[in-house]
Amino acid sequence: MQTKIGIIGGSGLYDIVGLSDATWITIDSTWGQPSDQVLTGTLDGVPLVFLPRHGRGHVHTPTTVPYRANIDALKRIGVTDVISVSACGSFREDMAPGDFVIVDQFIDRTFARNKSFFGTGCVAHVSVAHPTCPRLSAACLTAAKDAGINVHDGGTYLAMEGPQFSSQAESRLYRDVWHCDVIGMTNMPEAKLAREAELCYASVAMITDYDSWHPDHGAVDVSDVIKTLQGNGSKARDLVTRLPTLLDRMRAPCPHGCDRALEHAIMTAPD
Ligand code: ADE
Repeated sequence: MQTKIGIIGGSGLYDIVGLSDATWITIDSTWGQPSDQVLTGTLDGVPLVFLPRHGRGHVHTPTTVPYRANIDALKRIGVTDVISVSACGSFREDMAPGDFVIVDQFIDRTFARNKSFFGTGCVAHVSVAHPTCPRLSAACLTAAKDAGINVHDGGTYLAMEGPQFSSQAESRLYRDVWHCDVIGMTNMPEAKLAREAELCYASVAMITDYDSWHPDHGAVDVSDVIKTLQGNGSKARDLVTRLPTLLDRMRAPCPHGCDRALEHAIMTAPD
């Protein structure tokens, strides 16, 4: 199977530069309308598909993003490797605004989203013990380092519902008691759905702020977030352009089994 990269771009990443034969196309999904059309093309000879998570013009809130339609659309168009790029707040002094984190764990505190493709007619329980693909995450880490980005290898991402930022008490709970590293509003249920769709998934989280725990930084301010986002966006574009040469053009089975996640997960008896 040929590698096809899927980039889900969050706040700060609304396009991809240097894509050959770039065309916006509509993909229909039985799970509703995806966030937007997808931009298809090739980068260094490798097919790449870009989907703006919030839609062009940023029209979807973290709650209204159609996560199931988005993952289904990428699956239908033949994507093998999904890289999520998103903004986040930091719970760690040493993970500063402007730094990137290759997330490897999640705590899912979202509650108003459809989280599974299963449940009507077919019941499946996939494992998300290791919710990101180590092979794809390693490629993202190398791409970030090569791009000169201050990047952290691994981190636990607290996924919150939003759209409001957290209270200081919540921020301290997530940091001091739950030992999370970063906080964002969009990686869940995206990562769970990618696993159900048997897609490799990696998360590149771009830090914009210190959430509300930090004694010197007070509350999250969207105008500050937007300023940091602009710098992060150009770093993310640089990271993405380095990915095709780091991934094998032909995809062997995922060494971590992401592409076979359903093999031992379906409960419903076959007809
Ligand atoms: N996205 C960017 N900063 C964030 C924060 N502090 N909390 C949740 N999502 C974010």
